[in-house]
Amino acid sequence: MAERRTAYDVLIIGSGLAGLTVALQLPEHLRVAILSKGTLTEGATPYAQGGVSAALDAADSVEAHVADTLDAGAGLNDPETTRFVAERARSAVAWLVDQEVPFSRINPGAGTEGLHLHREGGHSHRRVVHAEDATGAAISRSLSGLVAERANIDLLEGRYAVDLITGARLGEATNRCYGAYALDAASGDVELISAPFVVLACGGASKVYQYSTSPYAATGDGIAMAWRAGCRVGNLEFNQFHPTCLYHPQERSFLISEAVRGEGGYLRLPDGERFMHRFDERGELAPRDIVARAIDYEMKRLGAECVYLDISHRPAEVIEERFPTILQRCLELGFDMRTEPLPVVPAAHYTCGGVLTDRAARTDVPGLYAVGETACSGLHGANRLASNSLLECLVFGAEAARDIANTPLPGRIPQLPPWDESRVTDSDEQVVVSHNWAELRRALWNYVGIVRSDRRLERAARRIDLLAREVHEYYSHFRITGDLIELRNLIGVAELTVRCAGRRRESRGLHYTLDFPGHDPGQAANTVLVPARPRPFGSLRARGGG
Ligand code: FAD
Ligand code: SIN
Repeated sequence: MAERRTAYDVLIIGSGLAGLTVALQLPEHLRVAILSKGTLTEGATPYAQGGVSAALDAADSVEAHVADTLDAGAGLNDPETTRFVAERARSAVAWLVDQEVPFSRINPGAGTEGLHLHREGGHSHRRVVHAEDATGAAISRSLSGLVAERANIDLLEGRYAVDLITGARLGEATNRCYGAYALDAASGDVELISAPFVVLACGGASKVYQYSTSPYAATGDGIAMAWRAGCRVGNLEFNQFHPTCLYHPQERSFLISEAVRGEGGYLRLPDGERFMHRFDERGELAPRDIVARAIDYEMKRLGAECVYLDISHRPAEVIEERFPTILQRCLELGFDMRTEPLPVVPAAHYTCGGVLTDRAARTDVPGLYAVGETACSGLHGANRLASNSLLECLVFGAEAARDIANTPLPGRIPQLPPWDESRVTDSDEQVVVSHNWAELRRALWNYVGIVRSDRRLERAARRIDLLAREVHEYYSHFRITGDLIELRNLIGVAELTVRCAGRRRESRGLHYTLDFPGHDPGQAANTVLVPARPRPFGSLRARGGG
């Protein structure tokens, strides 16, 4: 196999909003590569429906945005980071408007004036800037068009980053990041991409669960790679379950936006009764953790397969104008939300924890940044407020780009070893990967879901341990594929999730355990896991393995 190596100033792993923001905000004299597992517009970003939160309404304020974010985060957000983000929300939206994202408007206006605002759960005001009900797709189209025009940016699609190359892996005293190995899915070759600055913008890990609103890319690659490279991770017990994923045998991941509840949608039991007021005075507009848990409770109590989201009492024109994409998809699946309730269930949606970062999106490894859903920036705490994720991508994408631009390029990058495949062969049993993948996702759904217990976590840990051993064995002997890379990372994130969940001896935000059902003010701290120093490549079977 030919040795393939390329060099850039900045390697961005991920082409969602986080990665595209960094790329577009970097100065144009830097040579930049953006890696994406699939096409440029895969990942969670194009699926985002609701929008971007920003205090733009005259009656709203940064203070109120901060207060709502802290309230949802159940005492674990970093208050300074939360304010930092909320203060930058207006300029982040203005930047998107400048990039010609076609947001919905109530009048033509200019910049952030005249934008229509949705309301979502946990927000005390209308605060969500949107492009009808397909905000992520509109953002993704505009920004990916712009990066394609930039001469300094190479778009490398169909590439799976496998592992980061750092000083510790080379036996150096300082564990600086120098680049990554990446699998070219089309040729099967593993390429060495060197860069003094690497940005992990790989999205979240919700595909670790059997039922999820997320696309296939959400396999926690960034979190797993960062951990193996020596970064601390945290708060992985806080997996957000979105309350309203459409319940349909052929369409398991279709989200019904929280904005539907924001526009007055009711949640109903199978007999038509509304129930949310029994759980929270905010009713259907309580934060997500409360609504998802209430639905889970009612479904278990009644043995029901789903509950119902009903907006049929609102005028048909409002539904047609505000939710054209959702309406169309539901019609294709046989439901008319203008006249009947939609069957819905909770599904894994967002990874609140991740790679610990500072306010410039720097990780513990010099030269390595993490932005967007991969990161744990301090904004979300124990539960993310709706529509704060796209905002986080924008704010910390800009901060990472600024920090990179202001940091001198290091003088020297050492000689990096090529990927070593001398001791591996082609697999004769690819089916092991899909079986293990299904088993892992079922175990997480059953034992590390909306309601947990020590016993369930122990069951999950035992299964994950077995799968980890099998996959490590497989990884050491066979040539890698995209599926294997993802499974290895999912197992890594599953292990870290169970460890984080096991450490929290209370219920808080998205982590609810039957063994400790109450808040413990003494535990109002983030869960932080510290990795071992990465071993040098020399001691491993395949370069980048281990
Ligand atoms: P993503 O957009 O997920 O992009 C990840 C990128 O990393 C992809 O390009 C992928 O190919 C690439 N990648 C991953 N691993 C590798 C690898 N090993 N090698 C190479 N490339 C890799 N948030 C809001 O704020 N508002 C909303 O309205 C909203 N609605 C949502 C609706 C849905 C259905 C979902 C699933 C999420 C929604 N969210 C919303 C959450 C939000 O969309 C995501 O958190 C956000 O888009 C994450 O952006 P990102 O850039 O971090 O990652
Ligand atoms: C939604 O539209 O309900 C998703 C919003 C989010 O995840 O922030």
